[in-house]
Amino acid sequence: MSKRVLVTGGAGFIGSHVVDAMLAEGARTTVIDDLSSGDAGRVSADAELCLVDIVDRGAFDAVVDRVEPEAIFHLAAQSSVTVSVADPARDCAVNVHGMLNVLEAANRHRAPIVFTSTGGALYGNEAPIPTSEDRIPAPLAPYGASKWAGEAYLKTWSAASGIPHAVCRLGNVYGPRQSPHGEAGVVSIFAYHLHTGRSPKIFGYGKPTRDYVHVRDVVSALQAASGISGTFNVATGVETDVMTVWDALVEASELRLEPQLAPLREGELERSCMDPSRARRELGWEAQTPLTQGLRETYDALIDEFARVEPAQSRS
Ligand SMILES: NC(=O)c1ccc[n+]([C@@H]2O[C@H](COP(=O)([O-])OP(=O)(O)OC[C@H]3O[C@@H](n4cnc5c(N)ncnc54)[C@H](O)[C@@H]3O)[C@@H](O)[C@H]2O)c1
Repeated sequence: MSKRVLVTGGAGFIGSHVVDAMLAEGARTTVIDDLSSGDAGRVSADAELCLVDIVDRGAFDAVVDRVEPEAIFHLAAQSSVTVSVADPARDCAVNVHGMLNVLEAANRHRAPIVFTSTGGALYGNEAPIPTSEDRIPAPLAPYGASKWAGEAYLKTWSAASGIPHAVCRLGNVYGPRQSPHGEAGVVSIFAYHLHTGRSPKIFGYGKPTRDYVHVRDVVSALQAASGISGTFNVATGVETDVMTVWDALVEASELRLEPQLAPLREGELERSCMDPSRARRELGWEAQTPLTQGLRETYDALIDEFARVEPAQSRS
């Protein structure tokens, strides 16, 4: 009998890669997604896609109780910082009440959850670099606060039920299928600018650093964390400034485009880099994709995706 797996947010960038990995393992895979930022076209035809809002407890429970999952990957989230500031109630509803619905369903089916939390939005500006999981979070926006609250509920439910739920705090994830139209996802945004021959605006004069981790490595970390209790940074421990990312993509594109440099936007972190040594020790996981190789592969994949959706405009 194949394993029954539920992926919330499985029509999203990262979730769709989790779905593919589950199908490759032979799991019977069900996706719950409301398509608020996801795309049904990303979901393999071999998975079942249920259009449900995780906040709608009745609809959510009906799917979960039919599927009776043995493992849950919980990726559905309100994940825009801007939206969280404009509509903190909705952010809280999805990231906290939605989490409660997932936890209660997991309890009924004794299914371990892997929850994708965030490193960058939690640790704040004062954290030492690279930041370990022991650092007390200091979120700058409602999104970070609601993710942290979700983590707290998950740990409480895990302790009370004895089900080994895991929190994975992701670095800056990049890879194929990332939308260029969100506020984050700088790799996809830059690739889209190159595709359309437009100069991007690079904030902080290209100096802000992030911990860029390939989606393939993130998926293998989430797989390794399933059934293991704890909080794990899923990152590389390598700090890279945004100008280095731009330069690598320009090289991959063989185009010449000068970016517009602008000051850092309010509320944006100057530095972010996470210590992945706990995941290495306790999950036996380590990111395998060198950034230069990952960026080149991602650029090629994204350009193909963009071209399928819309033809390239003028290239300089
Ligand atoms: N991309 C990153 O760099 C990054 C970094 C840290 C954490 N994360 C977390 O990883 C997860 C996946 O992120 P992503 O980049 O793939 O984002 P995404 O927006 O592509 O995916 C999120 C998915 O959740 C779905 N969703 C949102 N609200 C929902 C609701 N109420 N009910 C059902 N489905 C809903 C969306 O339609 C979408 O398909 C999120 O939890 C996010 O907070 C991502």
